[in-house]
Amino acid sequence: MAYQVIIPAAGQGKRMEAGKNKILLEVNGLPVFIHTLNVFQKDESCKGIFLAINPEEENALKAILAENHITKVVALVPGGKERQYSIFNALKHVKQEGIVLVHDAARPFIDKELILPLVEAAKEKGAAILAVPVKDTIKKAAGNIVAKTVERTSLWAVQTPQAFRFSILMNAYKKAEQDDFLGTDDASLVERLGQEIVIVKGNYDNIKLTTPEDLYFAEAILRKRQE
Ligand code: CTP
Ligand code: MG
Repeated sequence: MAYQVIIPAAGQGKRMEAGKNKILLEVNGLPVFIHTLNVFQKDESCKGIFLAINPEEENALKAILAENHITKVVALVPGGKERQYSIFNALKHVKQEGIVLVHDAARPFIDKELILPLVEAAKEKGAAILAVPVKDTIKKAAGNIVAKTVERTSLWAVQTPQAFRFSILMNAYKKAEQDDFLGTDDASLVERLGQEIVIVKGNYDNIKLTTPEDLYFAEAILRKRQE
């Protein structure tokens, strides 16, 4: 089932504290974003990759893409100050039809098998996200004092990819811009349209590499997959 994918890669990776954009860090000899792009390169349903990048990294990224035979990138688009702006810039280049996925370059372990049900759900209902049930007990607090324990059974930790009909995602981004709304994921923009969003259960190993210890988890996940 055909789709296009926007991949934001234009961050600074501040929390990773690596002194450079974390998507360029190598895990098992390959840059993080190449692990991510390989999944979409190999998925026949993926009809085009729109990569949001830091223009200063353009030459380096192009060389790495060529070296790793990534041929499906149809546009390298300058990123913005926030993830949301990077994605909006890329969305303006996407072919205006069908299903559009958004997937973080920093989330390299997306299971290809999960893309199909996600795309199907988005095709049927308009919007779908990958998420996993929250494992920790979550408390709401005022400062460091517990206010209450949040009921966990209805809580989901949200991942990417997130999948949308093109028109829905574009309307959500236009409305967010009009209202000056900044969300932490794409679905939060789409929710504001009153659009129903389907949750497709994902895998716990679809982690986003965010802080330094995530690199150890990443190596462990790859080791396990190579067994
Ligand atoms: N991203 C982007 N443009 C931005 C910020 C983030 O394209 N202005 C991308 C990142 O490259 C990453 C994804 O969005 O692939 C998820 O963002 P996050 O994990 O927050 O990455 P960074 O913003 O790079 O990290 P940090 O917040 O720690 O600086
Ligand atoms: Mg960030």
